[in-house]
Amino acid sequence: MGKQRDDIVIRTAVSHDLKSIVKLTENEFRNASMDAKIEDMLGGTPWIEIKAAVLKTELEKNPDGCFVAVLEGEIVGYITTIIVSVASRGVIANIAVSSKLQGRGIGRKLIGMALEHFKKLGLHQAKIETLASNQVGQHLYPSLGFREVERQVHYIMPLSEKKKES
Ligand SMILES: CC(C)(COP(=O)(O)OP(=O)(O)OC[C@H]1O[C@@H](n2cnc3c(N)ncnc32)[C@H](O)[C@@H]1OP(=O)(O)O)[C@@H](O)C(=O)NCCC(=O)NCCS
Repeated sequence: MGKQRDDIVIRTAVSHDLKSIVKLTENEFRNASMDAKIEDMLGGTPWIEIKAAVLKTELEKNPDGCFVAVLEGEIVGYITTIIVSVASRGVIANIAVSSKLQGRGIGRKLIGMALEHFKKLGLHQAKIETLASNQVGQHLYPSLGFREVERQVHYIMPLSEKKKES
């Protein structure tokens, strides 16, 4: 595995990037998505539709805190953040890197950009969540200084009898 490639540029995201960000998410994020697991259990709105709506809101509400990694004009990674002002906390909401370029330091660099952004805003804390099944997250985030707080159990139940179609 090489280090990060010099020809990768990281820049602030713009609303026009949404389509590429959603495509990258669809390709890379399924295993990291709670909504994908719920969809597998119960059906309902496809996880990527839910994630696309969330990403759109994040880009609209906090464009200065969202970054994309670009290689030869193609978006190969992104990070989105939100600010919880009352807690003086920046939250890394979503991050993904194209599987063909994972393991080269792009994720680490994107998180570094988000943390710099939080510091420039004078925030006191940074937060990120990951699933217990996400081995990369549980290696990467502590290696950047994040400390585990707690593990949370998520429950879901349908409110109608409609069964998931197989
Ligand atoms: C998480 C993600 C963004 C990281 O991006 P990346 O560019 O590969 O990250 P980096 O190359 O900066 O670092 C990855 C680190 O994880 C390590 N790693 C890779 N696979 C691993 C595994 N199976 N178990 C543990 N660590 C692993 C790498 O060795 C590297 O650590 P190092 O820098 O100490 O060597 C990327 O894996 C991804 O898009 N995953 C799918 C979506 C996702 O899970 N998003 C996060 C949701 S919380």
